[in-house]
Amino acid sequence: MAKADGMSAAPVLEVRGLSKAFGGVRAVDDVHFAVSSGELLAMIGPNGAGKSTCFNMLNGQLRPDAGTVMLERRSIVGLPPRQIWRLGVGRTFQITATFVSMTVRENVQMALISHHRRLGSLLPRASSLHVAEADALLERVAMRDQAERVCGVLAYGDLKRVELAVALANEPRLLLMDEPTAGMAPKERIQLMELTARLARERGIAVLFTEHDMDVVFGHADRVIVLDRGRLIAEGTPAEVRADPQVQAVYLGTGAMYGHDA
Ligand SMILES: Nc1ncnc2c1ncn2[C@@H]1O[C@H](COP(=O)(O)OP(=O)(O)O)[C@@H](O)[C@H]1O
Ligand SMILES: [Mg+2]
Repeated sequence: MAKADGMSAAPVLEVRGLSKAFGGVRAVDDVHFAVSSGELLAMIGPNGAGKSTCFNMLNGQLRPDAGTVMLERRSIVGLPPRQIWRLGVGRTFQITATFVSMTVRENVQMALISHHRRLGSLLPRASSLHVAEADALLERVAMRDQAERVCGVLAYGDLKRVELAVALANEPRLLLMDEPTAGMAPKERIQLMELTARLARERGIAVLFTEHDMDVVFGHADRVIVLDRGRLIAEGTPAEVRADPQVQAVYLGTGAMYGHDA
């Protein structure tokens, strides 16, 4: 894989023994994995495998029953979502109804203002607009030319790139993307993940993402982990995971491993 350095550095995120049950259902059962700076790790598995439950434990929305979650060697288990975000765990989220009436640039400015406030910057006038910084981020996601448009009128794929710029404004160390390309056309999915990979490598961001489109998974992940009914059943390079009989059995008959599902 195209990772020149950072291989020996401590992982940005290290998860061990992560578990969560809902009543009798072991939604996540003794899961472990790690993600390094600049690396894209895909978490895959059929519906109900426990992917979203994992994500919600990483971002603080759910408290694990057991396990450790270390963000750059610091435990984040039990911290509220806001604090986990402050420590550098970003996620892509839908731009909320309140923000669709604002322009593309304003959305990124809002994110930058909140980020600089977090860093303790008390220069509201000097920093209140962050126009140049916002436009630089928009340039990186190829949305500079649409900076003045209202988010509500954007094409879906364009909105996703704005969401990425909003997430980057917080300078995350780890980016969590739960089905980032849902609802996008195949060509747009590839483009969004190419952009994400480029930015992650450039900025040394660790990325954990879930994805149904196997072309996206096998084309863009550095490594893949596979969950089935809460258990980690495989881990490896895209090629290794694709060739794994247990993984093939889980996806048997779905056509998903062969890119026929879209
Ligand atoms: N809040 C909840 N209450 C009860 N059961 C839940 C809850 N969230 C998830 N589950 C169950 O946990 C399992 C894993 O779900 P989920 O993490 O959403 O899987 P995935 O994202 O891989 O589709 C499923 O059996 C699901 O029904
Ligand atoms: Mg899910």
